Amino acid sequence: MIFVDLGHGSLKSRPRRSAVDRLYPLTTRCRLFLTGLRSPWYGGALFMKTTTSKKLFAAAQRVIPGGVNSPVRAFRSVGGHPLFIKRAKGARLYDVDGNSFIDYVLSWGPMILGHAPAAVIQAITRAAANGTSYGAPTELEIRLAHMVTEAVPSMQQVRLVNSGTEAIMSAIRLARAHTRRDGVLKFEGCYHGHADYLLAKAGSGVATLGLPDSPGVPVDFTKHTLTAPYNDINGVRKLIKSHAGKLACVIVEPVAGNMGVVPPHDEFLPMLRALTREHGIVLIFDEVITGFRVHYGGAQALYGIEPDLTCLGKIIGGGLPVGAYGGARELMQQIAPAGPVYQAGTLSGNPLAVTAGIATLKQLKVPGVYRGLEEQARALAEGLAERAKRAGVPLMQTRVGSMMGAFFTKEPVVDYVSAKQSDTQRYAKYFHRMLAKGVYFAPSQFEAAFLSTAHTSRDLAHTLASAYTVFQAL
Ligand SMILES: Cc1ncc(COP(=O)(O)O)c(C=O)c1O
Repeated sequence: MIFVDLGHGSLKSRPRRSAVDRLYPLTTRCRLFLTGLRSPWYGGALFMKTTTSKKLFAAAQRVIPGGVNSPVRAFRSVGGHPLFIKRAKGARLYDVDGNSFIDYVLSWGPMILGHAPAAVIQAITRAAANGTSYGAPTELEIRLAHMVTEAVPSMQQVRLVNSGTEAIMSAIRLARAHTRRDGVLKFEGCYHGHADYLLAKAGSGVATLGLPDSPGVPVDFTKHTLTAPYNDINGVRKLIKSHAGKLACVIVEPVAGNMGVVPPHDEFLPMLRALTREHGIVLIFDEVITGFRVHYGGAQALYGIEPDLTCLGKIIGGGLPVGAYGGARELMQQIAPAGPVYQAGTLSGNPLAVTAGIATLKQLKVPGVYRGLEEQARALAEGLAERAKRAGVPLMQTRVGSMMGAFFTKEPVVDYVSAKQSDTQRYAKYFHRMLAKGVYFAPSQFEAAFLSTAHTSRDLAHTLASAYTVFQAL
């Protein structure tokens, strides 16, 4: 059976039975359900009490499709049911059954300072007292725009929106208007939100027209979308050359974060930059995940490549809904009301989201923050590698700064095809066993793990000790 996991990635297949069903016999599941065994914090019990989460999930499914407001939250890729969260603080999540977890999902990336950082919460609280939305400009928006344009110099002007999806849709509309072409080239395994024409998959062979990747997407809407394998330098070069006159833009996650983490090969981004420049194609970096994550200036600062347009989201909203797109003044001046390309939003530049973003970026600007994240992430990755090796488990890790991927395969992971070689059933088992030990990784093989400045050495030590026990049981 195939299910459409559109929350954070492209099509991902669902196991027939849940991982929990496969891993534990019915009698054990019944007994555990009845006794509601509880996993103590930092304890080693395999099962924890989840009675309230289960009840809430049943209630949620009656009024919300699939019980969740974004598909990947439903745990379908790993089986079982989602945990309902009551609160979060620092690196920890606390669920409705009284369990707590070291969180490596961090709301899928935004919470780089950990949950509820004091400076951000105080700033939002003060801002809320002044009203939550005006539908009129504020000085705060100028301040955040300055912070973003200073951090990311290729963004001379920036427009704030409400989500990553919206930022990408708007950037692509601008690229199309600017070039007067319709074609979009994207990469397999990258996710750019749920706009119709981006829910496209390659036909047979990369040079064919895109096909809808979800019911409800008209073929007409995807026919301008080409999909190529990530990191395939020669294939992409040929494709761009052969479609140059039709392509409005090439859109790429400069570090792919939606097929697990897949870093770009050394030549990949420079090749995209050179070819798009040569053919007058707009190069869009989707830095919704990588922006302010892998470096204060995003992946473009890390790799020294300037795209024409950049899309941001997640971190710049400090955990509130936000997105942004920007680029050279000349391009951005085409956006309404400065120019004719229409794009608008009732809540765009919302004072609470902007305040949270400003407070977050201020903290990230403190010297040493990214060095600290890098050191912690390296320690975690090296520790996991060492423990997997000792336990005899093949683990292929990928990492850029505090964005980490872990695949159960012996082969290098360089694109979506190689990412899919990972043993996803093993991942499901790993996920559930780590969860039972109080460690919350993403409920899908094809998502990144993130670190925050709130993760402590003790958190890492617990994660590594748990991982070693779990690896031995895989
Ligand atoms: C790289 C990337 N681009 C765009 C999006 C869409 O952002 P949003 O979920 O805020 O619409 C995501 C979401 O995870 C993402 O990872």
